[in-house]
Amino acid sequence: MIEIEDCCGGLPPGKVEEAFAPFVRLDNRQSGFGLGLAIAKQAVDAHGGSIRVQNLPRA
Ligand SMILES: Nc1ncnc2c1ncn2[C@@H]1O[C@H](COP(=O)(O)OP(=O)(O)OP(=O)(O)O)[C@@H](O)[C@H]1O
Ligand SMILES: [Mg+2]
Repeated sequence: MIEIEDCCGGLPPGKVEEAFAPFVRLDNRQSGFGLGLAIAKQAVDAHGGSIRVQNLPRA
């Protein structure tokens, strides 16, 4: 299991699963094509794994 945590300000509520769809960007805070998470999911799925994302309240 690989776990990555950052302090990004979180994802919009109800949009978490959409983040894995190709060319979907949930905010305009930084540049990008909306491909990073889609490519990661396809690679993980191809190897029989699972990938998920969750919002955590600030400690
Ligand atoms: N670490 C993160 N923190 C907060 N939001 C994120 C994070 N990673 C992704 N997201 C959200 O999910 C969306 C999709 O992420 P994804 O990595 O697929 O695309 P991107 O980062 O916008 O562009 P790319 O990865 O192609 O450069 C982002 O636009 C952003 O809204
Ligand atoms: Mg990205």
